[in-house]
Amino acid sequence: MVKICCIGAGYVGGPTMAVIALKCPQIEVAVVDISVSRITAWNSDQLPIYEPGLDDVVKQCRGKNLFFSADVEKHVSVADIIFVSVNTPTKTQGLGAGKAADLTYWESAARMIADVSKSDKIVVEKSTVPVKTAEAIEKILTHNSKGIKFQILSNPEFLAEGTAIQDLFNPDRVLIGGRETPEGTKAIQALKDVYAHWVPVERILCTNLWSAELSKLAANAFLAQRISSVNAMSALCEATGADVSQVSHSIGTDSRIGPKFLNASVGFGGSCFQKDILNLVYICQCNGLPEVANYWKQVIKVNDYQKSRFVNRVVSSMFNTVSGKKIAVLGFAFKKDTGDTRETPAIDVCKGLLGDKARLSIYDPQVTEGQIRRDLSMKKFDWDHPIHLQPNSPTAIKQVSVVWDAYEAVKDSHGICILTEWDEFKTLDYERIYQNMQKPAFVFDGRNIVNADKLRQIGFIVYSIGKPLDPWLKDLPAVA
Ligand code: NAD
Ligand code: UDX
Repeated sequence: MVKICCIGAGYVGGPTMAVIALKCPQIEVAVVDISVSRITAWNSDQLPIYEPGLDDVVKQCRGKNLFFSADVEKHVSVADIIFVSVNTPTKTQGLGAGKAADLTYWESAARMIADVSKSDKIVVEKSTVPVKTAEAIEKILTHNSKGIKFQILSNPEFLAEGTAIQDLFNPDRVLIGGRETPEGTKAIQALKDVYAHWVPVERILCTNLWSAELSKLAANAFLAQRISSVNAMSALCEATGADVSQVSHSIGTDSRIGPKFLNASVGFGGSCFQKDILNLVYICQCNGLPEVANYWKQVIKVNDYQKSRFVNRVVSSMFNTVSGKKIAVLGFAFKKDTGDTRETPAIDVCKGLLGDKARLSIYDPQVTEGQIRRDLSMKKFDWDHPIHLQPNSPTAIKQVSVVWDAYEAVKDSHGICILTEWDEFKTLDYERIYQNMQKPAFVFDGRNIVNADKLRQIGFIVYSIGKPLDPWLKDLPAVA
């Protein structure tokens, strides 16, 4: 029986291994983590991450061929294939701070593998890492290897949160990079055999190590670039009277452009896009390519611009001040169908409004009060460094209240900011909401999910990203 061990029971390690276990009943899969609380949650009825369909997959295999354990060394030592799916955050200090990937967690995992291994192993990079990381890992593993042979593969993960199970069941492609040697080819084949249990072989792409590593950074950079492009257009639409949804539809019907990932928004969030582009920028700089670095940096700059443009729009619409005004924030997660708040645009928007002394009442169906308070009091890039994940005092930010009901959040508010596209926000009783708000009542739709015309009929002043401006907003000075 092939034994797989995955180091890192997070958003990638957990769902990916659960699907491998489900699709390959004859493979034993152990998912290990240094976080005992995370492992305890994986072994309970309340899984540590919210992901549609995940509960069902885990329930089918847990205890049969899928195991979650904090005994990292035991499972690593007996595994044939070891996936490393630890966090690879942006460095917060020292060389490359604010850009480079922090490989501390990866390196400590590699050193532990070298220490405890007693047989040959395939080590698979599942985390997103800088190109050429495999070379460094190879050195760590072989330097301490006591004659044990390690083959390193790069097998980046392309799942998106909220659709992880669907993406894993039916991936556009699986990418495997390895050494172009007989041993490397054999290792690639071994991993290919795992995926071939459910992925058509023509969708399993094999490349050299560096192409696989770089393809992951490139894919995220291209995806984020599309969002920044459409968001840049949204600003121009507001200035000219064009409608960004019509522009997106028109350009998306060109088969060379395609319709996906052209939704204008308050900005992209999530743990990957910003981190991976910053990492790409740093790699370009290190390779003496400042023009290429600046090109990709602009994707992040436009994203930051979009978030601050949104805050400016809210403040300028409400008579240039939100001081002391109650603003309801609907949605805090970085997208719908997840409770994940890493790099969510809601953090920057809320901080911007708090900077103008607003009182915020926040509601998200999947994000806890503790998480929201931690996020609002954390420094940039600190979120993915476990040492900083200490709960802050719940009274740390007095102007923030977190509630468990949208109607409670909006009651007596002056304005509503929709920051996550949860379906339930489309069907709220806006008549009722309007009656219970201060007047004039504003809705700032950062995801373009409400029917602005209907809301205007009720009496709201509505701002929708990249749409022709409400007459009220048109008369105000332009926002920068
Ligand atoms: P995560 O923070 O949810 O999970 C990482 C886990 O690794 C944590 O539970 C942490 O405790 C554990 N860990 C860290 N060091 C360890 C060690 N030495 N031994 C054992 N466990 C250790 O992160 P994630 O979102 O699952 O992402 C993991 C990697 O996958 C990152 O490189 C990320 O860029 C990449 N990725 C993420 C996504 C996504 O949607 N989240 C998608 C594709 C790729
Ligand atoms: C992304 C990649 O899609 C995935 O392939 C990779 O493995 C991890 O990073 P994820 O961050 O989970 O996945 O979600 P994604 O659906 O890409 O959304 C990222 C952000 O972009 C979200 O904040 C989302 O709301 C935003 N977005 C997405 C837009 O603003 N407009 C769009 O058209 C699409």
